[in-house]
Amino acid sequence: MSRHPALDGLKALITGSSSGIGRATAELLLQRGAAVVGIARDHTKFAPHSKRYEPVTLDLSDLDVAATTLDDLARVHQDVAAAISNAGAGRFGAIEQFSASQIRHDIDLNLTSHLLLARSFLPVLKRRNGGDLIIIGSEAALRGARTGSVYCAAKFGLRGAAQAFADECSRRGVRVTLVNPGFVRTPFFDALDFEPADDPGSALTPEDIAAKLLEILETPDRPAYHEINIDPPDPALRYKR
Ligand SMILES: NC(=O)c1ccc[n+]([C@@H]2O[C@H](COP(=O)([O-])OP(=O)(O)OC[C@H]3O[C@@H](n4cnc5c(N)ncnc54)[C@H](OP(=O)(O)O)[C@@H]3O)[C@@H](O)[C@H]2O)c1
Repeated sequence: MSRHPALDGLKALITGSSSGIGRATAELLLQRGAAVVGIARDHTKFAPHSKRYEPVTLDLSDLDVAATTLDDLARVHQDVAAAISNAGAGRFGAIEQFSASQIRHDIDLNLTSHLLLARSFLPVLKRRNGGDLIIIGSEAALRGARTGSVYCAAKFGLRGAAQAFADECSRRGVRVTLVNPGFVRTPFFDALDFEPADDPGSALTPEDIAAKLLEILETPDRPAYHEINIDPPDPALRYKR
């Protein structure tokens, strides 16, 4: 089955569609005529006036509910041809600053919920003999760095899972791509004590990532990229205090 050179009529599922990268991707897909099923906890942040946008309220860190809801969505949306597993959040600090429940929560959200999405939607794509699973990793999937142990553990885990999914799906015509952005200027940093520096070159925009995701979806059957790293030209952080 060919991919989606025309996005008009494509149905995509995006987690974390209410903000940042997921929102920019949903907006671009809607502009291009696609239908979007968007998952987030708070849809007041992004509520496009489009019949082609279906918001689904779900806390992906609640794994039992997430597993059931994602299975239900996969049953209803058998025509999803692109699943974009994007939702996530960062919490940073020395490992001794984390409680056990914070570690569990962050791994549940940033790793396990992505496995659950794949568990529900890879069978949909396999049945179609085509389509894309795109997982948003991070530069933290490639390099461990101080204060990033829990976040990096989840993102490194996603990288292994993405490689395994790609291998599992290659004979079924399903393409699996891990996208690893460097700094992207989004509300991801709102709850953190650091953020990208003011210089525009220090961080990408969510629209930069959205454009790359659409480019992947529009690329005909071959090549499979497997992994794409995208960095700002001059990455730099600043501390808020
Ligand atoms: N910004 C960066 O520099 C950067 C760099 C590399 C990778 N990333 C990755 O990119 C992805 C998107 O991040 P972003 O920068 O776009 O951040 P963002 O603007 O904060 O967006 C995060 C999205 O994830 C959703 N989300 C968070 N927790 C959730 C939960 N428990 N259940 C359901 N949805 C949840 C949020 O929706 P609600 O709050 O409405 O639930 C929101 O739509 C993340 O996986 C992040 O790790 C970001």
